Amino acid sequence: MDKLVVEGGHRLEGSVGIRGAKNAVLPVLASALLTEEPLHVPNAPRLSDVRTMLSVLQELGCATEREESGAVRVQAPAELDHTAGWEHVRRMRGSVCILGPLLARTGQARVSLPGGCVFGVRPIDAHLRGFEALGAKVRIEHGFVVAEAPEGGLRGSELFLGTAFGSTVLGTANVLMAATLAKGRTVIHGAACEPEVEDLGRCLIAMGANIEGLGSPRIVVEGVERLGGATWNVIPDRIEAGTYLIAGAMTGGRVRVEGCRSDHLSVLVERLRDARVPVEVGPDWIESQAYDVRGAERPRATDVTTHAYPGFPTDLQAQWMALMTMADGISVITERIYPDRYMHLPELARLGAEVRRQESTAIVRGSERLSGAPVTASDLRASAALVLAGLVADGETNVHRVYHIDRGYERIEERLEPLGAVIRREKDEEGV
Ligand code: EPU
Repeated sequence: MDKLVVEGGHRLEGSVGIRGAKNAVLPVLASALLTEEPLHVPNAPRLSDVRTMLSVLQELGCATEREESGAVRVQAPAELDHTAGWEHVRRMRGSVCILGPLLARTGQARVSLPGGCVFGVRPIDAHLRGFEALGAKVRIEHGFVVAEAPEGGLRGSELFLGTAFGSTVLGTANVLMAATLAKGRTVIHGAACEPEVEDLGRCLIAMGANIEGLGSPRIVVEGVERLGGATWNVIPDRIEAGTYLIAGAMTGGRVRVEGCRSDHLSVLVERLRDARVPVEVGPDWIESQAYDVRGAERPRATDVTTHAYPGFPTDLQAQWMALMTMADGISVITERIYPDRYMHLPELARLGAEVRRQESTAIVRGSERLSGAPVTASDLRASAALVLAGLVADGETNVHRVYHIDRGYERIEERLEPLGAVIRREKDEEGV
């Protein structure tokens, strides 16, 4: 196991290029199951979650190839296996999005239930309801979701995908993929509007699907007989971009994230400006400007509430909390997507942050300084928040269990170092 050793107190400065989005590439790769022709993703990021998805696809019989450049090619065979076991699926909840395309293409799917998650129950009931609306019979058997399409295949229908916490991103991806090969028209109400869902839809259109309403809560799909291959560059990762931008803001440095979609990050830019962080924006770049972060211009405590897109993303909540630990005043952070997504809170407290939680709300009293300490990463975004806090804490912060970070950030230390961060990866002798 590796750890990251971060030395605090260095102002970041420079540019960082943004990679393809993790949460776009996972369903896009799953969509390769819908056709026998190859799907090529030139800008697939080098993440362990992408490797896991490729292992899942191999288990189903797909040929997968990773080029030197990072580009990925997947080709599903004529005769697909339809069982995906626990070994790979348990490592990543995102693998659940193979259900829809498998069911549509082979008429059956047997996929291990992904199990719990450190930040809550994360059910998939809405996904399953969606498949049932398309005529499938679905049951849970020995820890597997077993879904079977009716005689003659899935049938288009009108369905609602909302949950108590809003729309579901992967549920929409799953049902959208299933509907592309269903007979007739499917209308998805309460569809997720996240850019990653829209990107998947556009990839499906490039493969020959007939889809309207992407980016809106009402998506209409006219089923087609077959889909073909495609070459698809996924959208830039808005969460990676947001994380590096917040890193710049926390160190008071000038950090430009390049090759991003600034329209996907409007809410973050607005909140940063509310927090008195100077930010400049272009169509495909965003730059935090240098300022006196510990002096008169110290960031102002600014509340955020997470919502579905275009609201403040839950995947940036932990990083925002890291920024707020050094802000002037008290801020209130509310989680509307995952009420229990606060594992970073006790770890930030180990660095001296004053943070308290009341149900789905966290209250942060900004302090003048944080002090380095050993901390343990518990999930991807929580880990990123700990690295950010380490950048400004006095002395050294050891972030253990960095395999969580590698799921969603491509060698984070190699991206931060050229910006002036003092950070290194080491073998973790303590093995925690
Ligand atoms: N929900 C249900 N029933 C369902 C599905 C979801 O009640 O059938 C609830 C969830 O428990 C949650 C809310 O609905 O409270 C939204 O969950 P959603 O289904 O949208 O989450 P997801 O699709 O499983 C994706 C991302 C997450 C991101 C969420 C929310 C991928 C691979 N994962 O998960 O990304 O937090 O959308 O935007 O796309 C991350 O990258 O760190 C990450 C966790």
